[in-house]
Amino acid sequence: MEIRHYKPSDEKDWVRCRALSFLETAYFDNVLREKEHYENPSIELVAVSEGKIVGILDAECDTTENRVCTGKKEKGAMIWHIAVHPDFQRKTIGEKLLKELEKIAAQKQVMYLEAWTRDDQWVRAWYEKNHFKLVSSYLHIFMEGNELPKIEGNKSEMQLVQGWAHYTGENKEAVKEKFKRVHECVCYTKVL
Ligand SMILES: CC(C)(COP(=O)(O)OP(=O)(O)OC[C@H]1O[C@@H](n2cnc3c(N)ncnc32)[C@H](O)[C@@H]1OP(=O)(O)O)[C@@H](O)C(=O)NCCC(=O)NCCS
Repeated sequence: MEIRHYKPSDEKDWVRCRALSFLETAYFDNVLREKEHYENPSIELVAVSEGKIVGILDAECDTTENRVCTGKKEKGAMIWHIAVHPDFQRKTIGEKLLKELEKIAAQKQVMYLEAWTRDDQWVRAWYEKNHFKLVSSYLHIFMEGNELPKIEGNKSEMQLVQGWAHYTGENKEAVKEKFKRVHECVCYTKVL
C-alpha cells in the first residue's frame, strides 16, 4: 500500500472510494460525482493498493487573506475528506494518511488541523484515538413531510418535499425529539 499525492487521472476512483466509504455513515447521502477542488493551497493524498484507490484525504490550508478553518487565529488546515474503502478499514490506512498529512502540513507551517464529522461513534473514536479534541458541535436537521415549514403563497403549485437546516442554539435535546433525522455535527482539532 502506497500513500501518494492525488493526480487528475485518479478522479473516477477517488469518487467511488469516497461514496463507498461513507455508505455506512451518517453522511450516506452526501454523494459527490466529481472531486472537489480548492481555492487555497491544499494537500490531497490517496492510498493505493494493487493499483486501486483505497483511501483518500483532502485538506485545505488557511492563507493570510483567506481563512478556511473556523477556530484559532494561527494557520490551520481543514480536513474536508478522509475516507477509507470499507474493505480496507481498520488496517491503519486512515492513520497513515493522517501521518503523511501531518508531515506535509508541518512543512507548510500549519499549526493545527480541523475536521468536522457527524455522530458516528466509531468515526469519533478514530479521531480521538489519533489525538484530536472535540471542541464544539451543532445539529444538522433533515426534514420531510409534516416536519417541513409551509411555503407562503400559492401552495397548490409549489410544496417543499425535503429540507435540511443547521441548528446552533442551546436547546438541542428538544430539537432531537421534534425531528426524526437529526445529526450532531462535531468539530475536532489537533495541534501539530
Ligand atoms: C474513519 C476512517 C477514515 C478511519 O480509517 P481506518 O483506516 O479504517 O482506521 P485506522 O485503521 O487508522 O484506525 C482504526 C480505528 O478506527 C476506529 N474504526 C475504524 N473503522 C471502524 C469500524 N468499522 N468499526 C469500529 N471502529 C472503527 C477504531 O477506533 C479503530 O481502532 P481498533 O481497530 O483498534 O478498534 C474510516 O474508517 C472511514 O473511512 N470511515 C468512513 C468515512 C468517514 O466517516 N470519514 C470521516 C468523517 S468526515
